[in-house]
Amino acid sequence: SRPSDSNLRSPICCIMGHVDAGKTKLLDCIRGTNVQEGEAGGITQQIGATYFPAENIRDRTKELKADATLEVPGLLVIDTPGHESFNNLRSRGSGLCDIAILVVDIMHGLEPQTIESLNLLKMRNTEFIVALNKVDRLYGWKTCRNAPIRKAMKQQSEDVKNMFKTRVNEIVTQFKEQGLNTELYYKNKEMGETFSIVPTSAISGEGIPDMLLLLVKWTQKTMTKKLTYSEEVQCTVLEVKVIEGHGTTIDVVLVNGVLHEGDQIVVSGMQGPIVTTIRALLTPHPMKELRVKGSYIHHKEIKAAMGIKITAQGLEHAVAGASLHVVKPNDDLKYIKKAALEDVESVLSRIDRSGEGVCVQASTLGSLESLLEFLKTPEVNIPVGAINIGPVHKKDVMKASVMLEKKREYSTILAFDVKVTSEAKELADKLGVKIFIADIIYHLFDQFKVYMANIKE
Ligand code: GTP
Ligand code: MG
Ligand code: NA
Repeated sequence: SRPSDSNLRSPICCIMGHVDAGKTKLLDCIRGTNVQEGEAGGITQQIGATYFPAENIRDRTKELKADATLEVPGLLVIDTPGHESFNNLRSRGSGLCDIAILVVDIMHGLEPQTIESLNLLKMRNTEFIVALNKVDRLYGWKTCRNAPIRKAMKQQSEDVKNMFKTRVNEIVTQFKEQGLNTELYYKNKEMGETFSIVPTSAISGEGIPDMLLLLVKWTQKTMTKKLTYSEEVQCTVLEVKVIEGHGTTIDVVLVNGVLHEGDQIVVSGMQGPIVTTIRALLTPHPMKELRVKGSYIHHKEIKAAMGIKITAQGLEHAVAGASLHVVKPNDDLKYIKKAALEDVESVLSRIDRSGEGVCVQASTLGSLESLLEFLKTPEVNIPVGAINIGPVHKKDVMKASVMLEKKREYSTILAFDVKVTSEAKELADKLGVKIFIADIIYHLFDQFKVYMANIKE
C-alpha cells in the first residue's frame, strides 16, 4: 500500500433514499448527534454536509480488525431529503458525490424515491452501496450495540435469521427488477459488477462499522485517480442562508482545491454574477452537521474536500446549485463572469415563473426551488407570480395585493419556514391578502387547497 502521506482528498459520499428510510438517523448514529429529532415533522428539507475525520472512522471500525490503513483524510457525507418534493436536492447531492449510500428500509423494500434515487445514480454512473436499514425492527432482534453485522447476526435466533434471509432475498429480487445485481457485502465476490448490501440499524448501531469500512476501502481501492487532490478549485453552492451575526452566507461543498480568506470569488446571482471577497471561512466542528446552527471554526484556508460556510458581502441574491469560481491573479474576470452567468441560467431555467399567481416566499433558495418544483407538479398545479427569500415584510404584502384586482384567490403568500413581521400581518389583514405559513412544504398545499375549495363555494 501507499505511504500514509498519500495526496488523496476525502471522498464525498451522498446518502439517498425514500423518505424515512433512516438516512439522517444513520448519520446521527455515527456523529452521536440528534439532528433528526430537531427536524420539522421529522423530515429533512435541506441538503446537509458532515465531515468525518479518518481517526473517528478508524475508531468506529476497529472491531472489524481491518488491516487496510486509511489513506484518505476522512469522509465528507452529504445528507439529502427523501420526500418526493425534493428531487432537485437529491439531484444536487448525487451530482457532487464520488460514492453514494442508498438507504432501504428492510421492512418496506424498494419504494418510489428509492427507485428515483437509483435512477439518478445509474444516470451518472455513480458507485453506491445499499444500507439495508432498521434490522432491529425484525421481530425478536437482540440488540448488539454498534457491533459488526456478522457478529450481531450470530446472536440472533433461527427465527430472526430466517426472517432476515427472506427479506434480503425479496429485496435482491426487487433490485433485479430494476436491472441491478445485489448481494450481502460479505458474500459479494464481484464488487463492481454486483452492488453490496450492508444491513444496519441507525438506532442500535449494528452494521455501522461495516458500512464505514466498506465506503472507505472501496473508494480508496477503485477511485485513487479521482480522489487525487488537485489544485484546481471545484466548488458548488449548496444553500444560501441568512445567519444572525453573519448576514447572508453560502454553504458550499469544496470538492477540490483550496480556498483562502480574502480570495476573490465569483458566484452566480439572480441578478447576474456576484464578484466578492471571502470574509470568513467557517466550518462546523468535525462530526457536526453544516446545516444545523452551532458554533463554527474559523479557518485561514481550507483544503478539499469539505463542507464550508462562507461569509462575504453581496451574497443576498446568490443562487444555490451553481459553481463558485476563484479569481487568480492572471485570470480574466470577464471570462469567469460569463461562466457564472451560464451556470445561473441552467438553475433558473427550472424555475419558470408565469406572470399571474401566488407569491412564494422561503428561507433559502434551495427550499424555494423545492417549493416551486412542488407547486408545478400536476397534482398541485398552483401558478406562481412572484418569489422572494427571507421574512415576509410589508413590501411583500404590497406585491401580493396586486393580484387582488386580477385574480383575488392568488393574492396569497405561501410562506415556507420564514417569519412574518407584525406590520406585514396587519397590512395583509387590512388589504385582504392571505398568508399561509408552514414549515413543511406539503402542508402549505393542504392549507391552500382548503382555501380554494372555500372560495369556489
Ligand atoms: P427524510 O430525510 O425525511 O427522507 O428521512 P430519513 O431517511 O432521513 O429518515 P429519518 O432519519 O428521519 O428516520 C425516520 C424515522 O425512522 C425516525 O423516526 C427514526 O427514528 C426511524 N429510524 C431510522 N432508522 C431506524 C432504524 O435503524 N431502526 C428503527 N427502529 N428506526 C429507525
Ligand atoms: Mg433525513
Ligand atoms: Na425522516
